[in-house]
Amino acid sequence: MIKLKIKNILKKKNKKLIISLTAYSKTISEILDKYCDLILVGDSLANVLYGLKNTHAIDLKTMTNHARSVMLGVKKSTCVVDMPKGTYNTKNQALRNAKYIISKSNCDAVKIENYKNNSLIIKHLVKSGINVMGHIGYTPQFKEKFKPSGLSKLEQDKLLREAIKIQTAGAFSIVLECVETKTSKLITKTLKIPTIGIGSSVNCDGQILVTDDILGLSGFYPKFVKKYTNLKKIIEKVTKEYRSDVIKKKFPRKKNSY
Ligand code: KIV
Repeated sequence: MIKLKIKNILKKKNKKLIISLTAYSKTISEILDKYCDLILVGDSLANVLYGLKNTHAIDLKTMTNHARSVMLGVKKSTCVVDMPKGTYNTKNQALRNAKYIISKSNCDAVKIENYKNNSLIIKHLVKSGINVMGHIGYTPQFKEKFKPSGLSKLEQDKLLREAIKIQTAGAFSIVLECVETKTSKLITKTLKIPTIGIGSSVNCDGQILVTDDILGLSGFYPKFVKKYTNLKKIIEKVTKEYRSDVIKKKFPRKKNSY
């Protein structure tokens, strides 16, 4: 299987849609790998796996450990890892931490949420040979309350400016999170790099969702999520059956015993 490089992701712009999902472990990444172009080790794991109220407290070591696990299951997809909040406040700190994530996990790129002058951080990382994905719109590391963006002309102009700045800084792609339909269309049409949408309509070069959400595991179902199955219910059913088997001594059988 040929590994998709950053240049392959870039080449998909205006040709093929980029299929992306999140993974936090090898168990999941090895299933997704065949069907995805890009796998993101998202810091959404703070909420989804660790039960935290936001993504703010997740640290570099935790993200790196999950990235290592995910990479064990990745053969084909490009793997991007979120840099946690507080790990890219300055150029030097960002470079040190991006190098740490990449050297420990062997992932392909890091993702940085947009905030103030973060495009300068992106520029510094790219100049140092690091592949970077940007992230605009709803940026959970820097916003307390969920809100879609790009609804007014003023917001649309602001988002477009931010997207262009990130592209100029050298990012290879950009996540648009909960960006209004016409605004995501304008940004996607204007940029040369691919846009990956989450809650940002069909007008993007690719789509991403949190895998636990589409599996019905996370309990988080805003309108931009499509819940494809209810794994929570399936796990509950299996657990109930197992409990009953143990109580009735139906498990373990002879064939399960040494
Ligand atoms: O952390 C995450 O999973 C993300 C995606 C929602 C884009 O940033």
